[in-house]
Amino acid sequence: MDDAIRALAALLRPATRILVFTGAGMSTESGIPDFRSPGGVWDRYPIVYFDEFLRDEEARKRYWLRSRETYPVLARAEPNPAHYAIAELERRGKVLAVVTQNIDGLHARAGTSPDKLIELHGNNLHVVCLDCNARTPREAIQAELVAGVEVPRCARCGGLLKNTTVSFGEPLPAEALQRATLAALTCDLCLVIGSSLVVYPAADIPVLAAQQGAPLAIVNATPTPLDATADLVVHARAGAVLPAAVAALD
Ligand code: APR
Ligand code: ZN
Repeated sequence: MDDAIRALAALLRPATRILVFTGAGMSTESGIPDFRSPGGVWDRYPIVYFDEFLRDEEARKRYWLRSRETYPVLARAEPNPAHYAIAELERRGKVLAVVTQNIDGLHARAGTSPDKLIELHGNNLHVVCLDCNARTPREAIQAELVAGVEVPRCARCGGLLKNTTVSFGEPLPAEALQRATLAALTCDLCLVIGSSLVVYPAADIPVLAAQQGAPLAIVNATPTPLDATADLVVHARAGAVLPAAVAALD
């Protein structure tokens, strides 16, 4: 592992415009299961696609049941050493952007600044009314769900509420995708942490970065489809590798 840490530090050292691209593997050490490792708890809750949510009350009930059951896991999670290592890279003036697929808000809580953070799939901190756009803290809705409300409605207009996260079949926030694409085209290193790199268009970001000539480093517990084209692959835990690589910069 020490050779891998040294090799990662060697890529980090000259870089001043790092695009950090993270997935669920960034937060498993914070107690949040990822999506595709064996025995994932998320399998218990079938995915509700965006169009189903819009047209079918039963689908909305399934959506909110899944959200009610998974919210406590997200709400009690704390940033882990890998999140703090990314915030330290930013403090050292080395981060161009942190592009995350995660909705848990842990990068922000670890100190990654809002102007660097790009949440491609939104986050679970609020719900939004699809009719009048009113936003409500997700915590307030959890109390309703636990009290037995199956499909919460907007207090202001009675419209449909939805988490401020991107559902399958729902377009990614255009502004986030534009910012992430620009970062991919201008970064001088792309550091992928904890993603299986199988969900698009998010996974296009590291591909774009590599295509424009940025070195690609992947820290992931298991192989990914980009391993063959990466400059460095470290199959190990983010919480072990990232803090050690940042510390090795001194
Ligand atoms: N350190 C490093 N890698 C890890 C760790 C860890 N501690 N724990 C898990 N991993 C790796 C797993 O081996 C896996 O390859 O992280 C990867 C997580 O992959 P996924 O579970 O597919 O998560 P992600 O890539 O973020 O999924 C993308 O899919 O379901 C949608 O919207 C959801 O944002 C998510 C998207
Ligand atoms: Zn409303």
